[in-house]
Amino acid sequence: MKKRILTGDRPSGRLHLGHFVGSLANRVKLQEEYEQFILIADVQALTDNFSNPQIVADSVRELVLDYVASGIDPQKSTIVVQSKIPAIAELTVFYMNLVSLNRVLRNPTVKTEIEQKGFGESVPAGFAMYPVSQAADITAFDADLVPVGDDQLPMIEQTREIVRKFNSLYGTVLKEPEALMSDFPRLVGLDGKSKMSKSLNNCIYLADRAEEVEKKVMSMYTDPSRLKPTDAGTVEGNPVFVYHDAFNPNKEEVEDLKNRYRMGQVGDVEVKQKLVLAINNFLEPMRIRRSELEKNPQKIDAILKEGVEKGNKVSEEILSKVKTAMKINYTFK
Ligand code: TRP
Repeated sequence: MKKRILTGDRPSGRLHLGHFVGSLANRVKLQEEYEQFILIADVQALTDNFSNPQIVADSVRELVLDYVASGIDPQKSTIVVQSKIPAIAELTVFYMNLVSLNRVLRNPTVKTEIEQKGFGESVPAGFAMYPVSQAADITAFDADLVPVGDDQLPMIEQTREIVRKFNSLYGTVLKEPEALMSDFPRLVGLDGKSKMSKSLNNCIYLADRAEEVEKKVMSMYTDPSRLKPTDAGTVEGNPVFVYHDAFNPNKEEVEDLKNRYRMGQVGDVEVKQKLVLAINNFLEPMRIRRSELEKNPQKIDAILKEGVEKGNKVSEEILSKVKTAMKINYTFK
């Protein structure tokens, strides 16, 4: 039997090239080898977007479009909407007894995010508990493996602790998942900041049209110390060359541009124009897959409906075992 993988995203906006490089490309590969569930974690998204429910709601279907555009095949990967899986909410409630408040607040991922979001003294309890609900996500689907970057590794550790605690208290019911570490580098933003991220407004979205890509690339940050095309430029860490390396399959062209850039024999404009072409070529097959699905919105519904049905089948079985182990699987005749 194939091992089962669970991955997921919070729906709170569209996906960008950083997501593609960091996880979507990997999922497209993994779906060939594993049984993959992809969770659209709308309940988790509400933990920090509770005042913006419309963004979360609108992003659910957008995410399906981004997935299919990226090459995720709903025949191979099961796309599941979290709020439609009641077992996850129930498991979360049970697991909250198995973890201390201090432990969740010490979770490095949560700690960092609390600082980033500036919650101050008013950390929503739901937000602080999201590692517990993520443990519920992972165990509800009986996942063997969870692909993660290093920022989400503490989530898997937390899940493993909860699983061990559950199994030692109530009997071995839950599977202890393992992290499938990916070492994909973070994609730098258009502004040269370390990370492409919606909140930094430095993204190329998978759904961007060709003209948007052109506008964004042509105004990209390059080497700030280079004032004229005849100045010697720095290639290392320069975002236009990071993107050329990532998205331009013509390695000879990239090497030639790098050499000339270092010697002050090429202007930013030429480097950028070639990058516009490379990124648009990269996105073109995604645009085709996206527009096909956009023309057929019932297909999106069918993907979601099927995913939810399959997700509930798996998770209800786990929930029933959990309840039996916890001696609350009553039947009243
Ligand atoms: N916390 C993840 C993120 O913010 C999303 C997520 C929710 C997830 N549930 C999951 C990831 C379960 C993997 C497994 O990106």
